[in-house]
Amino acid sequence: MNVLVVGSGGREHSIVKKLVESNQVANIYVAPGNGGMNADATCVPINETEIDDLVAFAKESAIDWTIVGPEVPLMNGIVDAFQIAGLKAFGPTKEAAIIEGSKDFAKSFMKRHHIPTANYETFTDCDKAKAYIKENGAPIVIKADGLAAGKGVFVATTVEQAIEAVESMLLDNQFGGAGNRVVIEEFLDGEEFTLMAFVNGENVYPLLSARDHKRAFDNDKGPNTGGMGAFAPVPDLDQSVIRYTVEHILEKAAKGMVLEGRPFTGILYGGIIETSSGPKVIEFNARFGDPETQVVLPLLENDFIQVIEDVSKGKDPKLNWKEGYAIGAVVASKGYPGKYAKQVPLPYFVENDESYVVHAGTKVENNGTYQAIGGRVLLVGSVQQTIEQAHQAVYNFLRPFEQTNDFFFRSDIGK
Ligand code: AMP
Ligand code: GLY
Repeated sequence: MNVLVVGSGGREHSIVKKLVESNQVANIYVAPGNGGMNADATCVPINETEIDDLVAFAKESAIDWTIVGPEVPLMNGIVDAFQIAGLKAFGPTKEAAIIEGSKDFAKSFMKRHHIPTANYETFTDCDKAKAYIKENGAPIVIKADGLAAGKGVFVATTVEQAIEAVESMLLDNQFGGAGNRVVIEEFLDGEEFTLMAFVNGENVYPLLSARDHKRAFDNDKGPNTGGMGAFAPVPDLDQSVIRYTVEHILEKAAKGMVLEGRPFTGILYGGIIETSSGPKVIEFNARFGDPETQVVLPLLENDFIQVIEDVSKGKDPKLNWKEGYAIGAVVASKGYPGKYAKQVPLPYFVENDESYVVHAGTKVENNGTYQAIGGRVLLVGSVQQTIEQAHQAVYNFLRPFEQTNDFFFRSDIGK
């Protein structure tokens, strides 16, 4: 088979790495990819949002399967366009991707189908929103309705902060169209985890649980980022909590989407919080999580493309998982998620038996040296019997990056 992966980050490199293991896959292309993926796939210089060009490329190159990583092309209807062209693309249609693309849709959908989540109200009028905040008090959570690259959520600890957040969205237009409508919801307290599943219609096949670390610095301090590391599975999570989440959240959601005439195919991502009154949904995503994928897929034993074939035919892929744990820590450019220098040479590193490297923002020079060109540069991961061993292996590998002034990483992932 010839397979095309759409996207350019660490998540997409992890998908590529999994495809490399498959003996059914002859050629792997990634559009646009990044320089660090060159060893594993052919990078094609087409942006993830250039849907017509991607369709044309897939036709010309006899692509058998296209796997879509990021949410923006899904929301823009990439899967629909591939289907119209008679091509197979794994991911939800535009109608189904709305479960991630509109928080207002996701919240009202959950209400309709009795899926546990925080109480909420949606506003387009700033004065009404402010009155609601004053009435309910803080802590309270303000969310831009549309896609905001993970930046549209404010957990406000005071009424003033909450008001500032709604004003930035509804009056100052800081999130463009994504912030013309805001969801204001109850603050939930508890440990968070991610549970993703392969979904096709009403069929749901859960992956291992994972937890990501969104804050830039150790002990969850500093600004929110795209993710500074992750581990899987979550050791302190009871099987009963996972079962409840599968039955009352993921399966109900899959069924609800079918009932509403927008059946979901692809990866359904549940961002869950384990509250004292049970697991509740923080968000749904319509795709693999980043960086959770970088620690979940290395634990998958199955042939990835076979799983996709099976799921899309309505057949149980019988997922098998390696024993043990994976952790992954992100190396970021100093300054990220704010301003950072680009084109910085990376220290010398070589993947080994203990640890793997997933590229997110790297470029390879002709002489084989690497340069950092992104905020999140790469992720170093390891699969070991215990989470402590995995942590040790990752941090042994990361030593060369400790000695530079150009990069930083969290030292507490999986600790
Ligand atoms: P999101 O971008 O929707 O994943 O939200 C970012 C982060 O905000 C989540 O990982 C949570 O830590 C936090 N968050 C979102 N919604 C709530 C909520 N209702 N209660 C408490 N924390 C929340
Ligand atoms: N790790 C959070 C996300 O992928 O949205």
